[in-house]
Amino acid sequence: MVEVPDEQRLVEWLDEICRDVYQRVESLDGGELASYIPELANVDPDRFAIATVTVNGESALTGDHAQLFTIQSISKLLLYGMALETHGRERVMRRAGVAPTGDPFNAIELDEKLHRAPNPMVNSGAIAITDMVEGRDLAERTDNVLSLFERYLGRRPDVDQAVCASEHASGHRNRAIGYLLLDQGIVDDRVAETLDLYFLQCSILVTAADLALIGATIANNGVHPITGDQIVGPKVARDMLTVALTCGMYDYAGEWAYTVGIPAKSGVGGGLVGMLPGVGGLAVYSPRLDEHGNSVRGIRVFEKLSRDFDLHVF
Ligand code: DON
Repeated sequence: MVEVPDEQRLVEWLDEICRDVYQRVESLDGGELASYIPELANVDPDRFAIATVTVNGESALTGDHAQLFTIQSISKLLLYGMALETHGRERVMRRAGVAPTGDPFNAIELDEKLHRAPNPMVNSGAIAITDMVEGRDLAERTDNVLSLFERYLGRRPDVDQAVCASEHASGHRNRAIGYLLLDQGIVDDRVAETLDLYFLQCSILVTAADLALIGATIANNGVHPITGDQIVGPKVARDMLTVALTCGMYDYAGEWAYTVGIPAKSGVGGGLVGMLPGVGGLAVYSPRLDEHGNSVRGIRVFEKLSRDFDLHVF
């Protein structure tokens, strides 16, 4: 059993741990930048950050923790929480179930029997969830998404317009998914607008420190550790954690749950956030990805910390 120091020494201790694992993982240079969205290949591949925020709002930050990058698929988790909060579980479940797929994140697939997307963390489910963002037009719906992020981050985030344009220009597969959802009556006919909103949510700029704060909020029953704002209710936070554990790492989710055992969500921008219920959020930023679209160093950091500090939830 790992001995956790008292409150006073906690930050120092976390800081030491993060620095140590940073040094041990830094030399790992496998993986490739995401290039299927051309603009994502325009980042320095060596960037690396580790950030932790506890449920009491204490933080330890190492490396490029203030470097902005696009949140990408990690946004799916936040929008899922928003949809549950706004529309309730039953309506959300009519659009996206909770079944891990074992398929790549952008697979063109629906649950034919239940007539819905398999889960909210793959693109089909995420687009079905983004369709649930309320508002009269794209501007109002964008405002709702940015306001949600503002509550988590404590500032209104910027959008990387170059990445957003690149997502838009190369997003034919997502368009195919959107129109399949429309054909099946799962989303309504403002699908082009919903896809624009989906491209925008993926292009929101965050830092590793922001991701750790998001993780700490979800791990804290939906209560923001610094502002005390209840962003999602405890039941919604539990649903977010559960889906993150079973579906957050795409076709690597099974291995992840087995070996690391921490609810987590990754994005092709290189971000990876893990939630330790009742403890805090842990985030890594390193943009070189493996074949599943997960950060190579991110995976290694979590593997090491989970093993060394017995962080597996079971
Ligand atoms: O839908 C897409 O292609 C991206 N904008 C988001 C994908 C993503 O981050 C998947 N991640 N691992």
